[in-house]
Amino acid sequence: MKFVNLKPIIYVGLVLLFLTSCGENKSTQNNPVEKSINDLLSKMTLEEKIGQMNQLTGLGLSDEMQYNVREGRVGSILNELEPTVINELQRLAVEESRLGIPLIFARDVIHGFKTIFPIPLGQAASWNPSVVEDGARVAAIEAAAAGIRWTFAPMIDVSRDPRWGRIAESLGEDPYLTSVLGAAMIKGFQGEDLSAPNSMAACAKHFAGYGASESGKDYNTTWIPELQLRELYLPPFIAAAEAGAATFMCSFNDINGVPSSGNPYLNKTILRDEWKYDGLLVSDWGSIEQMIPHGVCADLKEAAELAANAYVDMDMMGFAYINYLKELVESGAVSEKIVDDAVRNILRLKHRLGLFENPYVEVLDEMPFYTESSLQKAKQAAVESAVLLKNDGNVLPLGSKVKTVAVVGPLADAQADQVGTWCFDAEPEHSVTPLTAIRNEYGKKVNVIAEKGLVYSRDKDKKGIERAVNAAKRSDVVLFFAGEESVLSGEARSRADISLPGAQSEMLTALKATGKPVVLVIMAGRPLTIEKEVKEADAVLYAFHGGTMAGPALADLIFGKAIPSGKLPVTIPRMVGQIPVYYAHKNTGRPGANVDLIDDIPVGTLQTSIGFTSYHLDAGTTPLFSFGYGLSYTNFDYSDVKLSKNTISRGETLNVECTVKNTGKYDAAEVVQFYMRDKVAKLARPVRELKGFEKIHLKAGESKTVKFSLTEDDLAYWNEDMVKRAEPGEFEVWVSPNSQTGKAVSFYLK
Ligand code: BGC
Repeated sequence: MKFVNLKPIIYVGLVLLFLTSCGENKSTQNNPVEKSINDLLSKMTLEEKIGQMNQLTGLGLSDEMQYNVREGRVGSILNELEPTVINELQRLAVEESRLGIPLIFARDVIHGFKTIFPIPLGQAASWNPSVVEDGARVAAIEAAAAGIRWTFAPMIDVSRDPRWGRIAESLGEDPYLTSVLGAAMIKGFQGEDLSAPNSMAACAKHFAGYGASESGKDYNTTWIPELQLRELYLPPFIAAAEAGAATFMCSFNDINGVPSSGNPYLNKTILRDEWKYDGLLVSDWGSIEQMIPHGVCADLKEAAELAANAYVDMDMMGFAYINYLKELVESGAVSEKIVDDAVRNILRLKHRLGLFENPYVEVLDEMPFYTESSLQKAKQAAVESAVLLKNDGNVLPLGSKVKTVAVVGPLADAQADQVGTWCFDAEPEHSVTPLTAIRNEYGKKVNVIAEKGLVYSRDKDKKGIERAVNAAKRSDVVLFFAGEESVLSGEARSRADISLPGAQSEMLTALKATGKPVVLVIMAGRPLTIEKEVKEADAVLYAFHGGTMAGPALADLIFGKAIPSGKLPVTIPRMVGQIPVYYAHKNTGRPGANVDLIDDIPVGTLQTSIGFTSYHLDAGTTPLFSFGYGLSYTNFDYSDVKLSKNTISRGETLNVECTVKNTGKYDAAEVVQFYMRDKVAKLARPVRELKGFEKIHLKAGESKTVKFSLTEDDLAYWNEDMVKRAEPGEFEVWVSPNSQTGKAVSFYLK
């Protein structure tokens, strides 16, 4: 049974944080690391301090970079990948700069370095923290061997807009799920010991509210009331700080007009004063400089002043600090204390990474890439990331009557696309595609007829469709691998129309017309609006971009060697106009129910006769698939939910249990979900909120009792006085297989 309840982690984290912070004032002088940081700081010139606050992109061993390193004008380098170059730059820093302060080498290692795991949104569909932790651990082992000791992940921006390309990098729409999985990813990257040579510092990003960008367009403005910021966008960052994330990164967006790189309320009041965070805060790439086009600074000097006074410790490729911070400190516009605090945070990270003792990367003859164990973990992650959305007539898994399969579609054999966005270091030739895996693993069992039909996902040239249709006619089942190329999601890759691109939908219609059962496998970076396609296909497996081992994972799922267990970490809308659409919505004063849809309304109907409720005439009240949804090849039966009490007092814990039985014929895993609703509160509360989950494995016929609990803190919410407090009254809980079903059971807080 996998552990998935964050509460104990948060609790232990809080205690540790409390103990550390209690000790901090007293012990700063006694703490050897802080003492050595202060000793070093006292020897540094202002220029050397500012140099530490400067992060540059790699230029190899160019004269310019050698000069910057020797003169102590750079504290960290990103995107330098050659271990021998890394070591030479490090040697210049350690042996030839005046104070010998080591550099930190950084890189975006988001869902794998060489062995690529599913995109983070796909990993989130596993609802399995150990899968996510394993992915990050493998990434750290591979990247650290190349000299990378700092990754810019996890991205824990709560994302409710599938138009936004970066939803691919997110862990979905829910703050609790994002918190649990974000913490797991941090644990995986940082390992047991951050100073071990195979650990990387994690970076909780983007602080904050980046996922709220208007219309899902990247970098766009956000309007976030403080209550929503605290309730929705900040919890994953608190969890990340508690999980020990060594660094945070500012976001590009402005919140209510204030860009994050110039926001002292976010970066000082909340991050430092409230949360007592003592890690490093880095800007995003050029985000200090970009406060000029934002329109809040006239020039780079003003940008440097604003960012420094907003407590941004390190300037990533903005050239603002290195050019202007010295004169700003000398003129008194920025206090030297701010600079000293930033440098302390940077030196502390270098200590935590063990770089003062062990600055170099061992140059290995054989790199620990693509090991058998890493590939198996990547495959397991891809298995658990696929969500079965439909399976009419139990088309899946393919049975022994299937003798010939048609493998069609632009994603069936697309090595580069299946790894998804944000994997700079992936080597596509290592990706095993569904076509290769089906041929290699199942080629003896079935005949495989391969015909792409369309060359790539946006292809509108229908010439090849006929060949795919012919292949379908000669087969017992059609496996259609559709979706998006990797370049259509990720940073700056937002879409306004999130339907299947190109002629894929027409191809599906043509395949369906053959009368053969069609299994639609979607490999994409975001939820796509596929209502029509879901109706047409017999089975739908939503696989996201599954990484290096997507092919073997999907082949096993299709042939029944593996059983689907993924659940949606994000809602799939019917159409773009529904966005934002998420399960934890408010009820409104006029919730939509039993509504008339546009084509059902008789001509001439009076305005007043079809009621006044909250819905879209053309989309109804529901999305295509809700958060938490996902089928299996087996069935699970949930017994009635039992509560330890009907009424609890403040400070008491409510225990909740439910027995789940596997009533089908396959051994399988189920994600048991635990939701709560505060029925009556001063501020309207969501219709459901996820409060826990557990992924359990049940043999056919087996039952297990799953236990959850709620404390007063779980019942609390941020109120209009900006205080988190539980109010007395009625609450409801559900233990259910998704966010929409299950029977509510009430209890009361006195
Ligand atoms: C992205 C960050 C990333 C950084 C460094 C930026 O454009 O927003 O998420 O870590 O680049 O590559």
